[in-house]
Amino acid sequence: MTFLFNSDAKRGAIFAEAFTRELPDIAFAMDPASVEPEAVRYLITWTVPDNLARYRNLEILFSIGAGVDQFRIDAVPAGVKVVRMVEDGIIRMMQEYATLAVLALHRDLPAYLDQQRRRIWQPMTPVQATKRRIGVLGLGMLGSAVLKSLRPFGFPLSGWSRTPRIIDSVRCLSGGEGLEVLLETSDILVCMLPLTEETRGFLNAELFAKLPSGAALVHVGRGAQLDHQALVDALNAGHLSGAVVDVTDPEPLPADHAFWSHPKILLTPHIASVTQAETAAAAVIGNIRRHRVGLDPIGLVDRSRGY
Ligand code: GLV
Repeated sequence: MTFLFNSDAKRGAIFAEAFTRELPDIAFAMDPASVEPEAVRYLITWTVPDNLARYRNLEILFSIGAGVDQFRIDAVPAGVKVVRMVEDGIIRMMQEYATLAVLALHRDLPAYLDQQRRRIWQPMTPVQATKRRIGVLGLGMLGSAVLKSLRPFGFPLSGWSRTPRIIDSVRCLSGGEGLEVLLETSDILVCMLPLTEETRGFLNAELFAKLPSGAALVHVGRGAQLDHQALVDALNAGHLSGAVVDVTDPEPLPADHAFWSHPKILLTPHIASVTQAETAAAAVIGNIRRHRVGLDPIGLVDRSRGY
């Protein structure tokens, strides 16, 4: 029985060591050419290989990342479980980045960076955290962890998800009406939604218009959710005050793209959160153990939802 690792060798070496120690009855392989396709029961990868069908006995297809939107799930045989990466390292990094981004916007960092470039020494009136309403779109593992890390600052916190959720000290909203309420009351909107057909193009002119005047955006979901021109227009019109953008479509952006030099945008190259090999190996091993005793792996994708 084989676990096939299809990602970078550095992370692979860490996985290999953990597998040898924890699951010695499973052969660990990094070179597809070296394995008997029929022996492969588990595959971890970022994209689905074209020749997936040759792994006739595949039981679980693991994503090396938090998202599965890069998989064409329809092309994966129905009996194969598809599993997102849910691991402590990815969660902690997202907490760090989202907190950094929210605080940067809360404390007017884009404007101060712009002033620095222009040699302007000009304090602005600060807004108290208790007056800055944060709204998080998406209350999965990452969204709820981010809300937890924002709690100590005293921001009024809200979150929205498709289906109702309960999170301590967070006003949880759901469904179409809940979304309207969330948008109207978010001074900083944080997008942590998975990319699905419903969320493609979600952050558009119509949505921005529903945010309070002067609101700001943190985008750590997926590039294809954001209408770039609509964001630039809302910033230029003064309706939005700033944005921290970590994901774009395409990635990287072309050299002449407006985001590079926009004074109200902080842009990072899709680094908000990255799978950490040690914790990811432990999570995958834990999931194989669960699967072997008949439990669903953590992060199991519901194919009808697409995440
Ligand atoms: C990164 O965006 C990931 O999906 O892990």
